[in-house]
Amino acid sequence: MKKNIKDDIAEILVSEEELSATVKRIASEIDEFYGDRDSRLLLLGILKGSVVFMGELMKHIKVPVEIDFMKVSSYGNSTKTGGAINIILDLYRKDLENTDILIVEDIIDSGNTLSYLVEYLKLKGAKTVRTCTLLDKPSRRVVDFNADHVGLEIPDKFVVGYGLDYAEKYRALPFVGVLKPEIYTV
Ligand code: IMP
Ligand code: MG
Repeated sequence: MKKNIKDDIAEILVSEEELSATVKRIASEIDEFYGDRDSRLLLLGILKGSVVFMGELMKHIKVPVEIDFMKVSSYGNSTKTGGAINIILDLYRKDLENTDILIVEDIIDSGNTLSYLVEYLKLKGAKTVRTCTLLDKPSRRVVDFNADHVGLEIPDKFVVGYGLDYAEKYRALPFVGVLKPEIYTV
């Protein structure tokens, strides 16, 4: 039988239709917020989980945007309060003092990644640093952090699809789903 990644999904948590409506709503919030500014708006995607959200979001934003990416990983135990993160691919850009950065993330869990990155990019000299996330698991927070634009709050379940992975798989699914329990145990 041919392989099909959808066979590993127990439940669809966010459908393609709901994802599409959510992305459009965030794009209009971004237009509303940045429409009157004369600095440059940089959408900064965090690899790799944000790529699908970023690609869809940028198509619906009407204000001029530039794009770039950073890649980060958690240092050891990501559930530790104040856990630092490891920058694997940094942002190199000349006129940060004239750049409004909007970090584009797939999901906020502990909050460590985004709270660290916001401080890091401010220290680097960005004019402003704000954040947007497709998904948010507020019940998992270990640091006090809230994104400026939030797509959907979800319960404390491990989700995959629309960019999000389990062991590098399932990023290509067009919806957000929960894996069958046996996938984690085999
Ligand atoms: P935080 O630093 O704990 O907020 O971690 C956020 C990162 O953890 C995200 O960018 C994801 O890469 C990963 N992550 C958290 N929850 C999930 C999930 O349910 N599925 C897939 N990746 C997740
Ligand atoms: Mg990520």
